[in-house]
Amino acid sequence: MKNKSLVSINDYSTEEIMQILELAKYFEENTEQNLLAGKVIATLFYEPSTRTRLSFESAVQRLGGSIIGFSDSNSSSVTKGESLKDTIMTVANYSDLIVMRHPLDGSARYASEVSNVPIINAGDGANQHPTQTLLDLYSIKKTQGTLKNLNIFLVGDLKYGRTVHSLLLALMDFNPIFNFISHEKLKMPDEYKLLLDARKIKYYEHKEFTDIISEADIIYMTRTQRERFSDQLEYEKTKDTYVLRNAMLINTKPNMKILHPLPRVNEINIDVDDNNKAYYFTQALNGVYVRQAIITKILGLK
Ligand code: CP
Repeated sequence: MKNKSLVSINDYSTEEIMQILELAKYFEENTEQNLLAGKVIATLFYEPSTRTRLSFESAVQRLGGSIIGFSDSNSSSVTKGESLKDTIMTVANYSDLIVMRHPLDGSARYASEVSNVPIINAGDGANQHPTQTLLDLYSIKKTQGTLKNLNIFLVGDLKYGRTVHSLLLALMDFNPIFNFISHEKLKMPDEYKLLLDARKIKYYEHKEFTDIISEADIIYMTRTQRERFSDQLEYEKTKDTYVLRNAMLINTKPNMKILHPLPRVNEINIDVDDNNKAYYFTQALNGVYVRQAIITKILGLK
């Protein structure tokens, strides 16, 4: 059971990723199914969430399954001092699968090692968010027709943003060119750049991107992750470094799409929302189909 967990995007081969994307396409066309009848899915969210938790819960309910869990660990026995291990071992007795978001890097891997049921990592600290990556890949493939040879702009908080870390790892097999646009203090960590170097994947780092925006196939905007800063003054200095505005999109490729894992704060002006290059709300919708695919794959349901 344990090895069915999805903790890191690297837990799936490229072939498995493509299978998930195919299955998600099936669920987009056949959303209502009864594949999870009699199954109980637990959602344990130690950090706030709107899209990840609710799209998982929507996915489960559309598949005929049941949900238990908490959206605020303050309403659980965690407040009495219960350890992560004890919570996971207990909830594993009540469920067939646990979806967990936790503020600590590595917490999902630890949970998968102590759990008798599979764990899906719904975000662990600044580390990874693999189900977001799968829906990002689905969104990219759906809009670009391919995952190969794309020029991907990652913009914003590349240090603490777990979605960009998982996405970078997943795209490495598809011959991308990366453009990293960030504040000096929020650059892509060296560990990821070393991986790109080892694979001879091209990447460029910038402080501005208006002069190169015409090259982008995908602009992936991210919020500055306020909750990861130990120094709030540093957050104040680095937030709002990039604000994408409609006027900046004039010379972009016709099929370029703007993605954002959401929530946004100020990094995409609302005047972009009506531009047909804005894809972030459809991207969030795709999360339901992709999470239906992930759950059924992990539980081995046909
Ligand atoms: N993309 C994402 O993780 O959003 P939530 O924090 O709302 O779940």
